[in-house]
Amino acid sequence: MKTPNILVVGSLVMDLIVTATRFPDAGESVVGKEFRTAPGGKGANQAVQAARLGANVTMVGMVGEDAFGQQLIDSLRKSGVNTAHVMTAKTAPTAIANIQIQQTDTETQNRILVVLGANNELRVADVSFLEDTIARYDIVLLQNEIPEEINVYVAALAKAAGVPVMLNPAPARPIPSELIACLTYISPNEYEAALITGVTPEDEQTVAQAVAKLREMGTQNVLITLGSRGCVYGDGKSLLRSPSVDCGRVVDPTAAGDSFVGAFCVAVAKGDTIEDALRFANCTAGLTVCKMGAQTSLPTLEAVQEVMKRV
Ligand code: RIB
Repeated sequence: MKTPNILVVGSLVMDLIVTATRFPDAGESVVGKEFRTAPGGKGANQAVQAARLGANVTMVGMVGEDAFGQQLIDSLRKSGVNTAHVMTAKTAPTAIANIQIQQTDTETQNRILVVLGANNELRVADVSFLEDTIARYDIVLLQNEIPEEINVYVAALAKAAGVPVMLNPAPARPIPSELIACLTYISPNEYEAALITGVTPEDEQTVAQAVAKLREMGTQNVLITLGSRGCVYGDGKSLLRSPSVDCGRVVDPTAAGDSFVGAFCVAVAKGDTIEDALRFANCTAGLTVCKMGAQTSLPTLEAVQEVMKRV
């Protein structure tokens, strides 16, 4: 089977993770349970996930000239991602995310506050080399943690070269029409879909409306992730549903969306059917939520294949 070549142009972020049963209100102090750091960033997470699932992955992005930056590059390399185009900014530190994991007896939730640092320093001139090389890739992955002008530029290059583009529009921000017109796939979660379309996808009807709206805006195929309710895929002809996969107790939902997107792109780039790609992505994300941290929780191909046997 073909090994897909995947290009990720996106963010690298060091995650600073605290766990607690309750987080403070304004003006209040509370005692937390644990603190840890883990490599993250939506772009880097998607790159690592795709590499752990067997793809050849190249990452383009920017870190600061500091220890976090080096740790993030090392984490990518350890998973086999090509980091030759991860650049170092002189003018900003490596990005960090403050991640709060609230663990109660009944549920685990996360909140993420990301400070984009060096990711915001990426300029079109830094990625213009892709003009000569983008045609080598089977798919390009973009997210919303780098400047919008980069996404617009890279998506247009990919489209002109006939390379499919996936945008994971997270964190949500308005999407310019010239970007959406270049997208083969868009994969928002339910919150992002609501912010972008104005329709909250909560039942059959509103899910179909949100998918239709995103297609009207110009993207070819729409993939909305709905947490424990699985996902919906719309291509204008039909609406496919694929259930989430329960792989055990939820420890930390961080990067579930990244593992889903990374896995889906590997599968479609390999030539899998959309149904199979959705099932593969749901199995991958199902495993991700069972471990703490972003890149520390992303599963290998062998682990996903084990889950696939019983689903
Ligand atoms: O999608 C999860 C990621 O979002 C985290 O790793 C954090 O870095 C933020 O960018």
